Amino acid sequence: MNAPESAVLTIPARPMPHVLNTYGRLPIALSHGKGCWLWDTEGRKYLDALGGIAVNTLGHAHPKLVPALQDQVARLIHTSNYYEVPLQEQLAAKLCEISGLSGAFFCNSGLEANEAALKIARKFGHDKGIDAPEVIVYERAFHGRSIATLSASGNPKVQAGFGPLVPGFVRVPLNDLAAVQEVARSRPNVVAVFLETIQGEGGVNPSRWEYLQGLRRLCDEQGWLLMLDEVQCGIGRTGRWFAYQWAGIQPDVMPLAKGLGSGVPVGAVVCGPRAVNVLGPGNHGTTFGGNPLAMRAGVETLRIMEEDGVMANAAAVGEALHAGLVRELGGLHGVVDIRGAGLMIGIELARPCGVLLARAAAAGLLISVTADSVIRIVPPLIMSHDEAAQVVAILCPLVKAFLAQT
Ligand SMILES: Cc1ncc(COP(=O)(O)O)c(C=O)c1O
Repeated sequence: MNAPESAVLTIPARPMPHVLNTYGRLPIALSHGKGCWLWDTEGRKYLDALGGIAVNTLGHAHPKLVPALQDQVARLIHTSNYYEVPLQEQLAAKLCEISGLSGAFFCNSGLEANEAALKIARKFGHDKGIDAPEVIVYERAFHGRSIATLSASGNPKVQAGFGPLVPGFVRVPLNDLAAVQEVARSRPNVVAVFLETIQGEGGVNPSRWEYLQGLRRLCDEQGWLLMLDEVQCGIGRTGRWFAYQWAGIQPDVMPLAKGLGSGVPVGAVVCGPRAVNVLGPGNHGTTFGGNPLAMRAGVETLRIMEEDGVMANAAAVGEALHAGLVRELGGLHGVVDIRGAGLMIGIELARPCGVLLARAAAAGLLISVTADSVIRIVPPLIMSHDEAAQVVAILCPLVKAFLAQT
């Protein structure tokens, strides 16, 4: 079966001559949405299995979130951190309650949360008398596109053209505890281990739970910080608030962003007892971070998630979606693996499959392809069983047709 052709496949992206050319965009302009559905300016309808890249926790135009945000916009959007922002304390307290950690700093994005985490690691080292602290980072990791976070990332394409990279990183492969133990023996300046609990951009690569438990023990023995980037896999996506909770451990530092504001930009770095007092007045700051609108978005997202059982939904629908994909695609020649947790699923194919992005959009389904050959599904956490079945029904014939092509 051939992938359906449509205007979407043939029309080139409309030029945006005043916008820097940093994205290869599809020729689709989305105009509005409802739940897990989006419509474009031409009136075409799409099932959203991308969620704005794991951002739209509550989907689009959520009937409880919209009035809350309208109320906040009408009251106060921004004041600056010169003054108290009571909603910051409210969101920080909630994040501490659900994570078991002790305090949060708010910013605007994932890379900013990770920058704050890296500053905490370095300051933690300096406070111990280590002048050139080092942080263990990972092959295939993605932590953002600032100079420090792209240096920590393990993707040469993200780094190319931006050297010299920030020093102070030691790279290891994922899920290999012996490699980290070797670093512990040979590098006395290491102060922290920094990894995504489940790698997202790198191809949906989960850390094994025993590996995380081993890292926790090693960090305790060595006096290192365990810093878990939950920017993509956190906030209920795997069926628990945070993916590390499946392993029964606690990090010392946890950067968050993406799903926390359900589409409103919010970043946070949440710290446990060993890290919470590392930064003091004057050590770090932000103009926008923690503003009332962003904080209200975070507070309401978490409240609605609890009220509506959104995490349990992510677990159940994620399991059904995974099972449907395995039923249709598992064992097919050219399908390497179908993996993930909850509503964070990767289908690894044996060859690059970026072309599926446009083919799926033409068939009315929004997905992404990451690490060249991994189809990534990270939909809103409110997706229904019926919508998940539609994802399977639209996507799998496209994948089969792709695999049949020589
Ligand atoms: C795990 C992880 N960390 C950090 C980032 C960077 O987040 P942002 O794009 O908000 O800077 C991303 C973005 O994809 C991510 O997946």
